[in-house]
Amino acid sequence: METNLSNRVRAALVALAGLALALALAPAPAHAEYGDVVINNHSDAAGVRPVVFPHWFHRVRFRCKVCHSDLGFKFQAGGNDINMVKIIDGQFCGACHNGNVAWSVENCDLCHSGKPGTPTQVHESTIQKLVGTNAPAAAAPAPAAKR
Ligand code: HEC
Ligand code: HEC
Ligand code: HEC
Repeated sequence: METNLSNRVRAALVALAGLALALALAPAPAHAEYGDVVINNHSDAAGVRPVVFPHWFHRVRFRCKVCHSDLGFKFQAGGNDINMVKIIDGQFCGACHNGNVAWSVENCDLCHSGKPGTPTQVHESTIQKLVGTNAPAAAAPAPAAKR
């Protein structure tokens, strides 16, 4: 009985170790996460990393209206012609990233964090899957509804 139990404990530990190993060996996640918007209308051409805008991070902090109505962000990845002059002038990201509402513009790398060459997109968007730019993901069975 005693041995039986400790065997089971040991089996459980081995299984756990296996799981930890599997997780450790899993491919590193892509930089952008689900729902992030990658903005790259100008970045590659200007020699800076594309911008990763963590949409959900912002959505839990502000109402849609703040950005999409008051600040005039169009509902389209890459649909706003943003540049640094406008940001420093207090438009778009610069309405908040001014050292007042949020950290300011000199933190280049916090916004310009995308992998060079990543096109403008909503990371893991349905459209991306439909157009099949992400072949392996498109081949995989469709995940259950996400929201
Ligand atoms: C709050 C976020 C944010 C910060 C901080 C930021 N940028 Fe940007 N930047 C953007 C966005 C958004 C764009 C538009 C990206 C695109 O369309 O490719 C952009 C575009 C650019 C561009 C191309 C367009 C242009 O204006 O010439 C350059 C170069 C650039 N940034 C450099 C910098 C440098 C250097 C810093 C730090 C001093 C910086 N950025 C900080 C968000 C930011
Ligand atoms: C802090 C500002 C901010 C808030 C708050 C915000 N958004 Fe956005 N949203 C953006 C930016 C920036 C983009 C990308 C625009 C670009 O690439 O030029 C975007 C893109 C989008 C898009 C197009 C990309 C996509 O995911 O399909 C939709 C739709 C959208 N937002 C909906 C919403 C809704 C709904 C809410 C509220 C629940 C919301 N947003 C809140 C800033 C914001
Ligand atoms: C309505 C205000 C607002 C706008 C507009 C806005 N941000 Fe932010 N952003 C914030 C706040 C507040 C934080 C949290 C700051 C902190 O933690 O000190 C933040 C944090 C971030 C972070 C860090 C997220 C993290 O995981 O810590 C990034 C990256 C970022 N913003 C990029 C952008 C870019 C790019 C734009 C424009 C496309 C933008 N933001 C527009 C308010 C805004």
